[in-house]
Amino acid sequence: MTDIKTLIIVAVSRNGVIGRDGDMPWRLSTDLKRFKALSMGKPLLMGRKTFESVGSKPLPGRPHVIVSRSATVDMPGVEMAATVDEALARAKALARETGADAICIAGGGEIYRQTIALADELHVTHVETDLDGDTHFPAIDPEIFELVEETAVPSGDKDNYPTRYAIYRRRAGR
Ligand SMILES: NC(=O)c1ccc[n+]([C@@H]2O[C@H](COP(=O)([O-])OP(=O)(O)OC[C@H]3O[C@@H](n4cnc5c(N)ncnc54)[C@H](OP(=O)(O)O)[C@@H]3O)[C@@H](O)[C@H]2O)c1
Repeated sequence: MTDIKTLIIVAVSRNGVIGRDGDMPWRLSTDLKRFKALSMGKPLLMGRKTFESVGSKPLPGRPHVIVSRSATVDMPGVEMAATVDEALARAKALARETGADAICIAGGGEIYRQTIALADELHVTHVETDLDGDTHFPAIDPEIFELVEETAVPSGDKDNYPTRYAIYRRRAGR
């Protein structure tokens, strides 16, 4: 059986902020397009609060697994999981069923904290600014994750800030 990769996808400010008041503290159209291209066709795993932040409806073309201890969502393309382990297992099963080679963990802070230890790759949009916020991404340990690709992305018409797109891969044996 082919192994399904676990990708974390996140946009994070220089000082580690990923969210404020239930939303993201920036507008980055270029990054949303990249998120869409990378995640299309792959199961998306996210916390209940992040699902609400995207309008409580699934993003097209990607099966969703939402983690919540008690919430129920009954709509096509959305499955609920009561634990992070159950969500990971279900997302990987969906990937196998649909022929996807990876699952994407799409946040938010609570879910990133509980899954970074088992992610194979981190796809990180470094937002080139310091910002106030209430939700953070954990520090990326260079002994565990190796930077394998990095691209500077200038700020486009619909972007608040320039960004730097980086891919980190788990080092062998870590
Ligand atoms: N910058 C980015 O790339 C990015 C990406 C995604 C989100 N965000 C931002 O992050 C913020 C949301 O993050 P957040 O940390 O507040 O919330 P979250 O991680 O999206 O969701 C938290 C919820 O997930 C459920 N949950 C968490 N751990 C669980 C577990 N072990 N078992 C069962 N359920 C569990 C709980 O739902 P119940 O309360 O229903 O039990 C919990 O309240 C927003 O500001 C959003 O805009 C930023």
